Amino acid sequence: MTTLQNLPPRVRLIDVGPRDGLQNEKQPVPAAVKVELVHRLQAAGLREIEVTSYVSPKWVPQMADNHAVMQGITRQSGVRYSVLTPNLKGFEAALADKPDEIVVFGAASEAFSQKNINCSIAESIERFAPVVEAALVAGIAVRGAMSCTVGCPYEGDIAPERVAYLAGLMRGIGVQRVDVADTIGVGTPRRVQAAIAATLQHFDVDHISGHFHDTYGQALSNTLAALDMGVWNFQSSVAGLGGCPYAKGATGNVATEDVVYLLHGMGIDTGIDLEALVDASAYISDFLGRKPNSRVAVAMLNKRAQS
Ligand code: HMG
Ligand code: MG
Repeated sequence: MTTLQNLPPRVRLIDVGPRDGLQNEKQPVPAAVKVELVHRLQAAGLREIEVTSYVSPKWVPQMADNHAVMQGITRQSGVRYSVLTPNLKGFEAALADKPDEIVVFGAASEAFSQKNINCSIAESIERFAPVVEAALVAGIAVRGAMSCTVGCPYEGDIAPERVAYLAGLMRGIGVQRVDVADTIGVGTPRRVQAAIAATLQHFDVDHISGHFHDTYGQALSNTLAALDMGVWNFQSSVAGLGGCPYAKGATGNVATEDVVYLLHGMGIDTGIDLEALVDASAYISDFLGRKPNSRVAVAMLNKRAQS
């Protein structure tokens, strides 16, 4: 049971809305809208933004405008802009756009690895190794995303040992920090804590982030469970956008607005202005023609409309 006594005093949120959030949108989102979203997120106080990915445009058409988006951003000092690079081809393409951090992305599940990046876990590590090496030589930070750390759409439950195995492989090739991702949002607090405990065999708590999709409505509970273990880095998505194209039925990441409300309510500092964040949420939701997938954003927008 959580005691809520030893929570971290501050939390760093990485907004993955422009990437994880938008990658699954069927309607094309113009690069200018993505750029404006990034600008609004940084204006709201986000200090880490996952902007885009350098993957095959045949696999993920929505991310085909990666160069235009990265080139279109007016960078703010103190903000870290990260991008996904699954292989050397992606890394070389990204290099021209000078990301602060690249993300290699693997899975604790063999089946998901095959569906998502078309190779086994072992092959993925072979592909990532030269990417990590080249990034570190170029002075670019390296994060590793670990998908399906509690459940997989193809294999069902994933044992913590498999998370430890992947974390060890990531560590072995020089990845500096990792995301413990519940890709399909099936986790509950104890299972998520077990995945984090497995990761702690290879990374210290300052180099582990929680990445929880909210498909089953458990992401805030899972965030609290991770906080209770001392995790203080989390990925979330403005307006709760998103989902992975290779995890059918999985919905978006936990909404950044909801996490900020939770944290501020517990006296935990994020450096984020929730009103400005809700403006960003309304901006992208209006473009997409729907309400934000965030209880907090909807509540705050309703309150604004009434006053
Ligand atoms: P592949 O087909 O195995 O690659 O794809 P290949 O090396 O055999 O090349 C095939 C074709 O793809 C060639 O083009 C390559 O040039 C091209 P062709 O000659 O046929 O015209 N290609 C590329 N093009 C652009 N950028 C590249 C690149 N690499 C090869 N980097 C690959 C392998 C990984 C590229 C492919 O499977 C792919 O793009 N997959 C998409 C994966 C993806 O973006 N998934 C969503 C993000 S992960 C996620 O959402 C989970 C996360 O949020 C955490 C969580 O929640 O779990 C991070
Ligand atoms: Mg994700």
